[in-house]
Amino acid sequence: MPATPIIAPFPATRLRRLRRTPALRALTAERHLSAQNLIWPIFVTEVAGAEGEIPSMPGVERLTLDGARRAAERAADLGIPAVCIFPHSDPDLKTEGCERAWDPDNIGNRAIRAVKDAAPDLAVMTDIALDPYNINGHDGLVRDGVILNDETVEALVRMALVQAEAGADILGPSDMMDGRIGALRAGLEGAGHKDVAILSYAAKYASGFYGPFRDAVGASGRLVGDKKTYQINPANRDEALRCVARDLAEGADMVMIKPGMPYLDICREVKDQFGAPTYAYQVSGEYAMIEGAIRQGWLRRDVVLESLLSFRRAGCDGILTYYAPQVAQALAQA
Ligand code: PBG
Repeated sequence: MPATPIIAPFPATRLRRLRRTPALRALTAERHLSAQNLIWPIFVTEVAGAEGEIPSMPGVERLTLDGARRAAERAADLGIPAVCIFPHSDPDLKTEGCERAWDPDNIGNRAIRAVKDAAPDLAVMTDIALDPYNINGHDGLVRDGVILNDETVEALVRMALVQAEAGADILGPSDMMDGRIGALRAGLEGAGHKDVAILSYAAKYASGFYGPFRDAVGASGRLVGDKKTYQINPANRDEALRCVARDLAEGADMVMIKPGMPYLDICREVKDQFGAPTYAYQVSGEYAMIEGAIRQGWLRRDVVLESLLSFRRAGCDGILTYYAPQVAQALAQA
């Protein structure tokens, strides 16, 4: 946008001229959304009988490993560049020490290998945080009710190296511990995984919009307390920018803002200030809100595209969204 926009007075300027027909509107569209802008988060379960629809996320399913393979093929066919794997792990195997987080045969790592096998060109993103394997549902190790920072970072590095070994292309640390990006980057370099990318959940807020996700991964009933001592206060903007600056300085390749639509101001600010590859996560609660209203007949399905376009307008290069396959299919048919 020029510093001083030139607008002739009415009637020389009639902004409706360029809105008159679909062709004129297409010519003047400032932003576009394509399948290439999407990352598809999928839930993979190892618990017999847990596969199928997640009640608080109608239309989204927990998948078996075979289901994950089929999802990977579908993503590749639709031109979606990446899937992000979230494990739904056996509740009986969750521990205080979260040892299963770095077991090469945990469900997350088995899913990485299954997806890579089914669709070798698809990028595989993972989540790095201890919550799927933690008995108390927290992203970090807990001692006497305190979420330990440095001990957690060490555990996250072990978890990351095993994921890299399993074939992950992009690691997504979602834990919000301090110092984790630098530690992960050093760990990856040290282990010869120099080309594994880090998409940092840099500006991750302590949000109520993660509720349905916690149902999906089976963490809802377990979470003791809340995540406010590590995730960002929704009132804060400067702090989010400092988190992004810090993570980029420590070696993040890409950064994420999460949740999405309630934080579009942060997306715009991050893109403008840092110019790094910037992603937003349209989280489970946003999905539930939109999908619930559509299924009630209160909104029309075209709000899905509108919601995703808002991220592009706010400066995001891409969006993690549960709508990825549906939207990619709609775009291919349009
Ligand atoms: C936890 C994690 C969460 C999400 C992604 N990774 C939940 C949380 O922080 O409690 C949320 C995703 C969503 O709501 O769709 N490591």
